[in-house]
Amino acid sequence: MRLAVPGLLLLALSLLVGVGSDRTNAEGADLAADALLRGEAIFTANGCMGCHGEGGRPLVALSTYTDEELSSLILAPANPTMPAFGFSDTELADLVAFLKQRYP
Ligand code: HEC
Repeated sequence: MRLAVPGLLLLALSLLVGVGSDRTNAEGADLAADALLRGEAIFTANGCMGCHGEGGRPLVALSTYTDEELSSLILAPANPTMPAFGFSDTELADLVAFLKQRYP
């Protein structure tokens, strides 16, 4: 009986650790999904599709840009037709994550 206790403790510990890391992964996935949803909301609210939608200039191969490159293309567009958007760092991070996922 006495010998079984450390074994049980070990089992309980490994279960705890296992459950803990599962939860961390699930929370990470939730956070990433939330960021994509916020990015999509920013994309919609700012009328990006007015210029980049059907009949406009399609957004393509955006994953070939680094996050920094995409951010500056949005904050200070190379093409004068596109207005400069004054997004916060968080908004920009969410928007860039969404853009790379939607237009890889
Ligand atoms: C008034 C029109 C207009 C609006 C609104 C607009 N864009 Fe643009 N955008 C442009 C034009 C024009 C270019 C240059 C495209 C080119 O040179 O082929 C451009 C370029 C870009 C680029 C650089 C990559 C590329 O395809 O050239 C990104 C990224 C981009 N826009 C994202 C956005 C996002 C995100 C929004 C909304 C927050 C937005 N744009 C709103 C007109 C617009």
